[in-house]
Amino acid sequence: MSTIKNIGVLTSGGDSPGMNAAIRAVVRASLYHNLKVTGVLRGYEGLIHADFMPMDGKSVANIIQRGGTILKTARSDAFRTKEGRELAHKNLVDSDIDALVVIGGDGTFTGADLFSREFNFPVIGLPGTIDNDLEGTDFTIGYDTAINTVVNAVDKIRDTAESHDRLFIVEVMGRDSGLIALRSGIGVGAEAIMIPEAKIGVEDVVVRLENGRKDKASKIIIVAEGDEAGGAYNVGEALKDRFPSYDIRISVLGHIQRGGKPSCMDRVLASRLGVAAVEGLLAGKTDVMAGQVNREIVFTPFSHAIKHIDAEKITPAWLRLVEILSL
Ligand code: F6P
Repeated sequence: MSTIKNIGVLTSGGDSPGMNAAIRAVVRASLYHNLKVTGVLRGYEGLIHADFMPMDGKSVANIIQRGGTILKTARSDAFRTKEGRELAHKNLVDSDIDALVVIGGDGTFTGADLFSREFNFPVIGLPGTIDNDLEGTDFTIGYDTAINTVVNAVDKIRDTAESHDRLFIVEVMGRDSGLIALRSGIGVGAEAIMIPEAKIGVEDVVVRLENGRKDKASKIIIVAEGDEAGGAYNVGEALKDRFPSYDIRISVLGHIQRGGKPSCMDRVLASRLGVAAVEGLLAGKTDVMAGQVNREIVFTPFSHAIKHIDAEKITPAWLRLVEILSL
């Protein structure tokens, strides 16, 4: 029998579409199990400043379809310090909050891992990041929406590129990860994709373009922001020297990738994982992330979720696919 009576929920790090659906699921699942639930504002900053608000069924009405996070989010430097975490723990104890659900990415889970072990405090994480760079889940909450945002934007770029016979270099987000670039690049029929995991340099792109069909009107190269080429502008400069006759344009998509209505995939994933997190806490789980692998719910230790070791996600087979399809 669990002793948990009051669950705190927070969102931390970069926001992602579907975080609201996750908050809603945590709140409604807590109520279903006759628990209190407390919203923590601005991630770990809210723990440190005791910025808490009681939540009920109504406080999460009509948010499943909204981007962003109603609890707001932040990247907290203070929570990286022992003093900051001690204050956070004191505030939780003073407010009778016995467990936490934290929604975020690897920075969030690094903090959660330390916190739950330091104070023996029950914490479960939900993977909320557009980057899809966590182990222990096939997809993170927000990734599907973000890649669809990229696809919609690049389809428009393709229209104008085609009309003007231009080459576009489009930079997409993904701090250390090329997963947004890889999937959206396949989705838009990119001529080349540059991602940190694959070490495809400008020279490889040059070869690809030289060997490509000569009658192509437009060409789209998708560059992940974390690629070692150093971003779309650098790639553009390098290609301009090699192909002086090409009419090259650059487009950096930026934060539009983080906003907007979550897709149905993200809403459902967030809803399912939110309920799993509450029920996982009640079953005694802690220091783990709730994820979905092959349609099953799995709980992965934070220390493993943040490792970025799952090479399966970017296999040579995916890159081969890009090459075949760009002919
Ligand atoms: O982690 C999500 C993400 O959007 C990354 O893709 C990107 O590098 C980073 O956040 C940007 O962070 P910020 O909004 O703080 O500039």
